[in-house]
Amino acid sequence: MTSADYDAWHLPVLAQEAVEALAVKADGLYIDLTAGGGGHSALILGKLGEGGRLYAADRDREALEASEARLAGVKTRGTYQLIGATFTGFPSWLDLRDKGRIDGLLADLGVSSHQFDCGDRGFSYLKNGPLDIRMNREQGVTAAQLLESLSREDLVTLLRIYGEESPAAPIAAAIVRRRKQKPITETLDLAQIIASAVPARMRREGNPARKTFQALRMAVNHEQEELAHLLSEIPALMADGGRAVLISFHSLEDRMVKQAMRTWQSPCQCPRDFPQCICGKKPLGINLTPKPVMASAGEMTRNPRSRSAKLRAFEFHKEVSHELLR
Ligand SMILES: C[S@@+](CC[C@H](N)C(=O)[O-])C[C@H]1O[C@@H](n2cnc3c(N)ncnc32)[C@H](O)[C@@H]1O
Repeated sequence: MTSADYDAWHLPVLAQEAVEALAVKADGLYIDLTAGGGGHSALILGKLGEGGRLYAADRDREALEASEARLAGVKTRGTYQLIGATFTGFPSWLDLRDKGRIDGLLADLGVSSHQFDCGDRGFSYLKNGPLDIRMNREQGVTAAQLLESLSREDLVTLLRIYGEESPAAPIAAAIVRRRKQKPITETLDLAQIIASAVPARMRREGNPARKTFQALRMAVNHEQEELAHLLSEIPALMADGGRAVLISFHSLEDRMVKQAMRTWQSPCQCPRDFPQCICGKKPLGINLTPKPVMASAGEMTRNPRSRSAKLRAFEFHKEVSHELLR
């Protein structure tokens, strides 16, 4: 494939910013947990020298195939390995000797353009296909099965929380009405049901199915649970000076990342009016991005997906001096 083919597969968001935030060392150990089309991984691998290692993981087999093809063409003296795994399967696949030695960890959350563009994956409300939406098609419950099994109340909650959808109740009611007649198994069928349930004003403002599909994607792929697990594992795995870089596309995810980094930097749980800390929890490092890094205007024009991207980075230290925190 040419680089244009790779870009069509998935154009990495905040690519240079992510690699800069990782401050890649030639002989370091790097983990990209969301390999996708291998865009970020290829940039990291290209910076590695003798002794440098990269693990590129993803739960989607098509992503691993694309990454494999891309990484094979990178000029490097470093080595790499592809891993099929979820965040919750991490770090069980990591060699014990590498725990506490990761120099850089990247998670570019959400979906790849490839997943979205392939109608047969079910992510798109614009192309017809089976209502699947699983990143790993070999495991778990499809969106069609989920829609069949949830109560109306649970559907409303799902659409409100994951989709931040205001007409959640009428959409859920329309889904329940329709599934009594026949199961909803195709993407455009669902998109049509949603369009008929929302006020006409919403149909004029954009595709009214967008938020429902997003909510279903997050639920089917357990995205919140996956991220929560990852954030809880990261601190114990990082080397002194190691950096974790996360790119999120949804306010719920960004909030989780922001909160985790705040707690890593200021874990003390003592009441504010205590003269000194008695809980003994020490800072784990420095938050490098008190404000998230966003895409430039140019990138937003070239790649509209980047508009909602927020990059946050944290540097871990075994000892955190007052100078570092300043
Ligand atoms: C935004 S894309 C990554 C694109 C990649 N950075 C690139 O440059 O091509 C997100 C990828 O992460 C994968 N992914 C999302 N959540 C995951 C999880 N919890 N475990 C493993 N892979 C996940 C998806 O399958 C998808 O391929």
